[in-house]
Amino acid sequence: MRILSGIQPSGIIHIGNYFGMIKKMIESQNDGELFAFIASYHALTSVKDKEFLETNTFEAAVNFLALGMDPEKSTFWVQHHVKEVLELYWILSNNTSMGLLERAHSYKDKTSKGISANHGLFSYPVLMAADILVFDSNIVPVGKDQIQHVEMARDIANSINHAYKEELFVLPQAKVDEVVATVPGTDGAKMSKSYGNTIDMFNTKKKIKKQVMGIVTDSKGLDDVKQWEDNNIYKISELFMNEGELKDLQKRFETPGEGYGHFKITLLEKINNYFEPYEEKRAHLLENPKEVHEILAFGASKASKIASEKMRIIRDAVGLI
Ligand code: ADP
Ligand code: TRP
Repeated sequence: MRILSGIQPSGIIHIGNYFGMIKKMIESQNDGELFAFIASYHALTSVKDKEFLETNTFEAAVNFLALGMDPEKSTFWVQHHVKEVLELYWILSNNTSMGLLERAHSYKDKTSKGISANHGLFSYPVLMAADILVFDSNIVPVGKDQIQHVEMARDIANSINHAYKEELFVLPQAKVDEVVATVPGTDGAKMSKSYGNTIDMFNTKKKIKKQVMGIVTDSKGLDDVKQWEDNNIYKISELFMNEGELKDLQKRFETPGEGYGHFKITLLEKINNYFEPYEEKRAHLLENPKEVHEILAFGASKASKIASEKMRIIRDAVGLI
């Protein structure tokens, strides 16, 4: 079984990215053959700053490797190092209806917020389909917001299979972990770097403390009985605590004497402890960029081999001799 997923290098990663996606990707190395890449071409739809894209691509690679991506066992590369996806993107484009792309939530959301769309943003799901289909991916672990894109890849694959040759493309399946489908931000809305409500994974201790202390609550004081259901501190704590610890926290909410600040400090300690084991490897990689680039080049060569073989079959099927 082949599992594939990508992440855009478009900013500092937060715990929503981690629990919604990165963690699942890393864990899936035990379930099958993992293909994971940094979606640098996709980032171009929104990032127009050279330094920013370069830095974030490098840091995304460092973060994945520090968190347990195993470049020997899995195939891990940067999207633009394997150019075959662009060729497939064009072939798929000619088998994708305008209507399908017009229905994409990501495009509709952005344009409804007044962000003027470029063609890259509009055709973004086709490139994503190329990423998925060129590697014959079976399973695509994604956050909830990406399910529609995987379904579109499936639709596009289906229509080409009908038009040319059954079974040219494997039909991919999205995999979403319902428990953490949407990690809430410090204000209770979906955590997202564009809403400024994130808790970052690898920021400075000071910054992470500021983010946790900024979690929005009601105004109940020390002597009040507090509701843990629907409380933002509690909801985020659920990601970091086991059942026993959560029971304890519930009791503390229901017993007067402590305030929300105390619960935030408990959560902050859990967060710091959770990511601490990855810090050393991360620091090592940040200081040794050559090592990181070699790992990525090795991953790109493994990915290229598969993609170029698949493209030979596809070119032949559509008449590009
Ligand atoms: P952001 O919303 O911060 O811009 P991205 O859109 O770059 O995040 O998302 C990268 C990956 O992380 C996607 O697979 C997405 O589904 C997942 N993800 C992002 N935010 C969350 C969240 N709050 N809960 C669960 N998964 C998330
Ligand atoms: N669009 C995805 C995101 O924003 C990133 C991505 C690009 C991707 N290509 C992919 C994810 C292929 C899964 C499969 O998060």
